[in-house]
Amino acid sequence: MFFEEDEEFGDGEQRLVQSTKGEYDFEENVLRPKTLDAYVGQTKVKENLKVYMNAAKQRGEVLEHVLLYGAPGLGKTTLAHIISNEMGGQLKMTSAPAIERSGDLAAILTNLNEGDVLFIDEIHRLNHSVEEILYSAMEDYALDIIVGKGPSARNIRFSLKKFTLIGATTRAGMIANPLRDRFGIICRLEMYSPEELKEIVARSAHTLGIDIQDAASEEISRRSRGTPRIANRLLKRVRDFSTINGNSAVTAADAKFALTKMEVDELGLDEVDRALLRAMIEKFDGKPVGLETLAATINEDPGTIEDVYEPYLLQLGFIARTPRGRMILRGGYEHLGYKMSEKQRQQVSMFDKDFRDED
Ligand SMILES: Nc1ncnc2c1ncn2[C@@H]1O[C@H](COP(=O)(O)OP(=O)(O)OP(=O)(O)O)[C@@H](O)[C@H]1O
Ligand SMILES: [Mg+2]
Repeated sequence: MFFEEDEEFGDGEQRLVQSTKGEYDFEENVLRPKTLDAYVGQTKVKENLKVYMNAAKQRGEVLEHVLLYGAPGLGKTTLAHIISNEMGGQLKMTSAPAIERSGDLAAILTNLNEGDVLFIDEIHRLNHSVEEILYSAMEDYALDIIVGKGPSARNIRFSLKKFTLIGATTRAGMIANPLRDRFGIICRLEMYSPEELKEIVARSAHTLGIDIQDAASEEISRRSRGTPRIANRLLKRVRDFSTINGNSAVTAADAKFALTKMEVDELGLDEVDRALLRAMIEKFDGKPVGLETLAATINEDPGTIEDVYEPYLLQLGFIARTPRGRMILRGGYEHLGYKMSEKQRQQVSMFDKDFRDED
């Protein structure tokens, strides 16, 4: 039940600024940096990982288990490739939903060699019996298997080669504590700054042989929601518009034209983001609203809102999570061009930091 290193599991129709992986992204692997030095941004994570990896190498040990968490498209899978490259082991990739029974995981584990890296994507989705097998595998490099039934049942312990588990998740909160505690290294990936994204766009353009002007890279990075996967995707679509216009190099005008055509606004919000904000104002009058209700109103899946849309809107300070639900803040009203009523101002002022500072 392994996925080949180069395989991604597509999940149907994608929106353009969606940060989850789509079936069209066969170029994604081409664009992955191969070394830690080529991996843009995430300075703290990189610095620490460098220390842990070098120390393990110097002591001749395998690297401790690593948990990577952060929003889709921020570079978790890429980092797993890099770690295994730098540590010199083989990388085996799988994802939690693909491991249905504990026997599946046992088969995977017994096939690992010393120093190999096992990457489990979406690790928050492991089922319970599989997770239990993982505990002793991670802690003692041992596989506990129960043979027989009833009074004659016995526990047999197999030893495993020392390996490194890399778990990736977009939902750190959904990982059970006993599992989380078994990771020696926990890294949280942050959204990227426009400067970092510009570097990524320039690098990707170079790799794909796209001639792009500086101002155009800048335009794309500003509208990429802090996410490298989106930056790369927008770059490719902008190139399409530029090609059709008969230009040899991608200009800022091309980028602006293309992004407008794709209905990606100056901040990278698309029609769905705007619908979400609009619903919060028009349907709920700016009052806090529960995730499920909001999701039903705009016909979206609550999990998708939580994983894909919300992180960036929170980052922009356009919405807040309050004890009574999601709430739109002043920046959200302003971005859509709404004027706030006195009542809405009062509602917001409790939760909006900018508001308190300025008023
Ligand atoms: N730090 C980085 N520097 C340069 N490119 C990056 C970086 N991080 C990610 N990328 C690019 O973004 C794309 C998506 O990254 P990746 O697949 O690693 O994200 P992910 O966090 O695993 O997403 P998901 O949660 O959907 O699995 C990669 O193809 C890679 O080219
Ligand atoms: Mg991934």
